[in-house]
Amino acid sequence: MAQFTERVFSGVQPTGNLHLGNYLGAIKRFVEMQARYDCIYCVVDMHAITVWQDPKELASQTREVTAAFLAAGIDPRRHIVFNQSQVSEHAELAWVFNCVARLGWLNRMTQFKEKAGKDRENASVGLYAYPNLMAADILVYRATHVPVGEDQKQHLELTRDIAQKFNNDWSESIAAHGHGDAFFPLTEPLIGGPATRVMSLRDGTRKMSKSDPSDYSRINLTDPPDAIAQKFKKAKTDPEPLPSEEAGLAGRPEADNLVGIFAALKDVTKANVLREYGGAQFSTFKSALIDLAVTKLGPIGTEMRRLAADPGHIDAILADGAERARAIARPTLEAVKDIVGFVRSR
Ligand code: TRP
Repeated sequence: MAQFTERVFSGVQPTGNLHLGNYLGAIKRFVEMQARYDCIYCVVDMHAITVWQDPKELASQTREVTAAFLAAGIDPRRHIVFNQSQVSEHAELAWVFNCVARLGWLNRMTQFKEKAGKDRENASVGLYAYPNLMAADILVYRATHVPVGEDQKQHLELTRDIAQKFNNDWSESIAAHGHGDAFFPLTEPLIGGPATRVMSLRDGTRKMSKSDPSDYSRINLTDPPDAIAQKFKKAKTDPEPLPSEEAGLAGRPEADNLVGIFAALKDVTKANVLREYGGAQFSTFKSALIDLAVTKLGPIGTEMRRLAADPGHIDAILADGAERARAIARPTLEAVKDIVGFVRSR
């Protein structure tokens, strides 16, 4: 198998306000990856329109996700931050992948089934082909590592299947054009951390979600400190004190969630947290959690609000990122065209 330069790619959809789940499950890990890899972080606006988006909202959410990236500590000069629609190579490669992926593969995608719901006939073709565009996002940069949540694992497997089928079907042409025995890498998902799944503060068995009607179910990244405190104070718990060991969290989803959030914010394990707070009442633990959350999230919210006041600055960062992304994507697409047999001017 050919060797590929290590590179991280990940994407976040600009739909709905960002919350603690997006931060701990994705953005915080994106920040950490910067020390070890060259990273490309993309606001996937083309994925967003697979379901209806109000145009003004889409633009403002795209800027808000970008602001969250920057506020959380992603460095757009050393790494790349941009929005997907500005680099048309994503869409071009996605078309080729539409012709590589099989109907049978897409029919197995659980996210499509969930999002399309009962009225499948009325789902957009884009929603169905969503995973092919996601594979194109990743492979147009020949990215080797993708930090994602558990829910995206199946899409990453599909990305590997597409890369493998492309490498196999065009193997002779790939070799003939000087690319050795494989053109696309088999990308590794990076899944992990104590809180890759942050649950609702009102119901520990449901994911924290932007679409939950109760704002008390989630901590938004733009929540000011008093709102963060209020929401954790009202967060559902159970009557027992905290256990001293992780096994004691079994069957206690709310306790498990709050301990997981604390651990992730503090960069320690749940076992560590319980060593300190085992036997404590929730009131004690919650005050410590509020202090920690306000310390970690407060500055991010403040910076996001500051950046929101200067959309021109955000747009300039996205334009610069898009240009640098294109410089990597364009040669990939030229090679793909040669491999497939598309005639192009030189
Ligand atoms: N599907 C991802 C999500 O909903 C977003 C996404 C689009 C993505 N393209 C990607 C994630 C490429 C990782 C890599 O969370």
